Amino acid sequence: SYSVIFDTDPGVDDAQAIALLMADPDIEIVGLTTTFGNVPIDVATRNALLLTELAGREDIPVARGAAAPMVKQPHPVPAHIHGEDGLGNQVLAEPQRAPIDSDAARFIVDSTRERPGEITLVCVGPLGNLAAALQLDPELPERVARVVVMGGSIHEGGNVTPVAEANIFSDPHAAARVLGASWPLTMVGLDVTHETVLAPDRMERICSAQGRLGEVLAASYAFYRQFYEQARGIEGCCPHDSCALAWLKHPELFQSVHGRLNVITDGLAEGQTLLARSDRQYIDRRWQNDSRAEVCLGVDGEAVVTWMEQLL
Ligand code: BDR
Ligand code: CA
Repeated sequence: SYSVIFDTDPGVDDAQAIALLMADPDIEIVGLTTTFGNVPIDVATRNALLLTELAGREDIPVARGAAAPMVKQPHPVPAHIHGEDGLGNQVLAEPQRAPIDSDAARFIVDSTRERPGEITLVCVGPLGNLAAALQLDPELPERVARVVVMGGSIHEGGNVTPVAEANIFSDPHAAARVLGASWPLTMVGLDVTHETVLAPDRMERICSAQGRLGEVLAASYAFYRQFYEQARGIEGCCPHDSCALAWLKHPELFQSVHGRLNVITDGLAEGQTLLARSDRQYIDRRWQNDSRAEVCLGVDGEAVVTWMEQLL
């Protein structure tokens, strides 16, 4: 079983992943931490509060986090993918709950101090909260069980530029710190999430089993899948953020390699993730290739979707 802090910018696929988290009896949700990304921070936080409330899970703390990138000017939000509200433009009542007093980075530091070695950080948005937590407490990597990041791309190419994936592109400086820190880290990037396709009939099945929360997810999918159908020519969508949880629960469905990750922070390739594999030899000495990170390069996408269906 796992104790998880879920760092998120909900977001349609984030919302699905939150629903999976809440459905999994094997996972203790220590808290949700929010970040700007798919939507501005106020909207992301409101969605985290709303989604937990719809599931009757007011017990889950929600901590508000990063409002902007560490260094760069923010990019426009992708309203054409997730809607202005992050949930496919729905009219929904505002949540009654409020976020906790500490901000996301503080919450991460405090929770891991209380429970050293026990907590897994699953991060499915831009990485500013983790970068801020590292800044608050440089010893954080020693207290975390593992960091699982949905983000980046090694061979697949990008989804916002030819080389950059959205979460890394949104705050490349934060990503460089997080992917380069000394914690055990797994990257679940586009190389595997683009191989995982949730077809419309399976979306419906998943949503119909989840009551009011499922209705909200179904409406958000109706919007989100239009983007995938236009942009990628597939029927259905890629449940990126759920793949990070799939890796946590079923790493055997993934093929991965080890190595050192680097992030390009500036210029035309900003947001690109580069991997120096530990099973290759390189001549240029600037490229360390110790096996710091585990990077997923292959997946049984069909089995991931089946796992989602079974859990829900
Ligand atoms: C990632 O970017 C966001 O749009 C999704 O929620 C996911 O976390 C995919 O590139
Ligand atoms: Ca996300």
